[in-house]
Amino acid sequence: MKLKHKIIALNMGALFFMLIILGTIITEITDNYNLRTTLQYLENQGNYSAIYIEQYALSKAPNDFEVPSVISTSANYLAAVLKDLVKCRVQIYYGNELLGDSEEITSPKEEIRPEIKETFKKKKAYMIAAGKNRVFYYAVPVSIGNRYTYSLGFIYDLREADNMKNNTIRMFVFTGVFLSIFMMLGSTVISNRITKPIKLLNEATGRFSEGDFESRAVVVTGDEVGELSATFNSMADSIKDMIAMLNYEKEKQKYFFDNFTHEIRTPLTTILGYADLLWKTNDEEVRDKSLFYITSEGRRMLKMMEGLLELSKLKNYSFELNKTDSNLKRLIEDACDSMHYKMKRYDTVCRLDLENITWKVDPDFFKQVIINLIDNAIKYSKSPIIDISLKKQEGVRLEVIDYGCGIDQKSLENLLEPYYKVEQSRNSCNEGWGLGLSIVKEIVDKHGGNIEVDSAAGEGTRIVITLD
Ligand SMILES: Nc1ncnc2c1ncn2[C@@H]1O[C@H](COP(=O)(O)OP(=O)(O)O)[C@@H](O)[C@H]1O
Ligand SMILES: [Mg+2]
Repeated sequence: MKLKHKIIALNMGALFFMLIILGTIITEITDNYNLRTTLQYLENQGNYSAIYIEQYALSKAPNDFEVPSVISTSANYLAAVLKDLVKCRVQIYYGNELLGDSEEITSPKEEIRPEIKETFKKKKAYMIAAGKNRVFYYAVPVSIGNRYTYSLGFIYDLREADNMKNNTIRMFVFTGVFLSIFMMLGSTVISNRITKPIKLLNEATGRFSEGDFESRAVVVTGDEVGELSATFNSMADSIKDMIAMLNYEKEKQKYFFDNFTHEIRTPLTTILGYADLLWKTNDEEVRDKSLFYITSEGRRMLKMMEGLLELSKLKNYSFELNKTDSNLKRLIEDACDSMHYKMKRYDTVCRLDLENITWKVDPDFFKQVIINLIDNAIKYSKSPIIDISLKKQEGVRLEVIDYGCGIDQKSLENLLEPYYKVEQSRNSCNEGWGLGLSIVKEIVDKHGGNIEVDSAAGEGTRIVITLD
């Protein structure tokens, strides 16, 4: 059963239940009231009639013993008079014998009714006969003198009360039908309003589960369903982002793998080529040259493997740096010292502008960062001057600036990826593997810092590292 139909059924059920309870109570209350007033009326009229008969008999019968004959002869007359007064059929009994009736007696041998029998004990009594048309029977004893007790019976038609009862029931049925139609329409509108956002959400999740990651629920209401739709939407956003991230990671991995195989092929081909030559030649010079290349290419490959190992070590989440309070100024000066000979070879000088800052870093890794940046500036930019500045502003700001060849905008995007090399340096310089800057980035990341490369072709490069 659909939610919409459940809501409608529930509303209709509640309405019917309410109408039946209310209808029964109201019908019973009004009917009881009618019966009570009828009883009161008959009690009054009964008392009055009893007195009337008594007075009549006493006035017509000067002697006590004449009372039976007076009543017997006037019973029909008395009943007729009382009928006009009380507005119902009146009967007069003496014991089991019916003496007078305000209406014609159709079946002469009628059973004596229970309420009449009660009057034999000098008690008033009543009885309501159920049926299509109910009848209220009421009886009072009439004592005349000391010796005679007659019974006076009223047969009161309850047609009016019955009509009222039936009208009340009819009114409730009519109201019930009217309200049902109204409720049906109202419930349909309400349930549509409630279920529509659920339906929309359902459709959105259905589309999403079939792979349409753009699918979003329309948030129509501010209620729980609206909240659920909004939650679904933000979940869908997160899933979409995650999928995009996974795709990006996958692409990066593929890029890494492609580059790795490409890089490793060249030295391996060189090594195999010279090894092959060794088998074939007896020439001393060729042998020496072959051995030289095999060794130097082997060393280069070893260096790359070391770089790769280091990168993988840094990328490992569980790997922790060994941070201690270190004097950054001294670390940078040390790094410059160790690059002294290379700088001399490339005719480059370092200009230092360093504040004396002590910061929590891993000194070995931090020094490696500086060496990598200076090394790049020396060998790739060919800049005659390298400016290194260290300043304290909020955190620590380290800048390594050269004024050499610079890096084009397109290359800047991938510069920090492993094996990325700017095209021109691929040809001009065979020294690096393109791992240096990715190692630098990992080290900076592990320090919780940030690295930015700002460069323009022909103008130089500025690398800014900030530590918080
Ligand atoms: N200061 C710079 N000036 C110009 N090019 C640079 C500079 N630093 C890095 N590059 C370019 O970025 C590429 C990647 O550098 P890096 O990751 O350090 O590789 P490697 O480990 O081979 O030195 C280099 O191939 C080089 O072309
Ligand atoms: Mg480098």
